[in-house]
Amino acid sequence: MRIVVDNGPGKGRRGAAGKRTRTAPSVALRPAAAADAPALHALIAAHLEEGRLLPRTLSELADHAHRFTVAVQDEQIVGCAELAPLSGAIAEVRSLVVSREARHSGLGQRMVEELGRRARREGFARLCAFAHDPRFFVRLGFSIVPHTWVPEKISHDCHSCPLFRNCGQYAIVLDLERAQAGAAAGTALVNRHG
Ligand SMILES: CC(C)(COP(=O)(O)OP(=O)(O)OC[C@H]1O[C@@H](n2cnc3c(N)ncnc32)[C@H](O)[C@@H]1OP(=O)(O)O)[C@@H](O)C(=O)NCCC(=O)NCCS
Repeated sequence: MRIVVDNGPGKGRRGAAGKRTRTAPSVALRPAAAADAPALHALIAAHLEEGRLLPRTLSELADHAHRFTVAVQDEQIVGCAELAPLSGAIAEVRSLVVSREARHSGLGQRMVEELGRRARREGFARLCAFAHDPRFFVRLGFSIVPHTWVPEKISHDCHSCPLFRNCGQYAIVLDLERAQAGAAAGTALVNRHG
């Protein structure tokens, strides 16, 4: 992944574009638990329109809480992101949200990095996302690809979606193997925790 060594909260970091990003002091990442479902639900629901996010039910979030990484500040969940498997080879970043007060300090990037580390540990070769505005992901090294390059998503979700072929979303993919090789060759800024 073309991202950065995670210096941890409060330290300076440099993003993929070489731009210095700010890290929020005292914001920790941790895996979510079922007890976090109400907070996840509230956070996602509050940003549905802005992020054009998929609505999530409380019970679905409780069932899938273990897939989420959350950002916690003063015991409040201020960010979340889900690693949702589409097949044994590819997992999707879903429900990525950072509360407005906590934005622009690198939390979104840190959570995607964390999902990338988990995805590699769990044996996925690629990460993908689907977004109306792909720029956040492109900045992190993802590439915009035709939807047909992610047939797992089409069969998993798109066929049953009323907006199939007309959703206006970009498919964005990160090849974890290639990103890791780029990191080893020193040609990309990549987290090295994986
Ligand atoms: C996208 C989001 C998660 C980013 O969270 P964040 O913690 O601010 O992210 P980071 O601090 O790691 O990175 C911020 C950078 O990402 C880029 N970025 C973020 N959102 C962007 C957007 N909509 N368009 C273009 N660039 C964007 C910018 O370069 C920004 O840099 P800046 O802080 O100098 O302005 C947050 O804006 C959010 O929750 N948005 C609403 C929900 C949403 O859109 N989710 C994604 C759906 S696919």
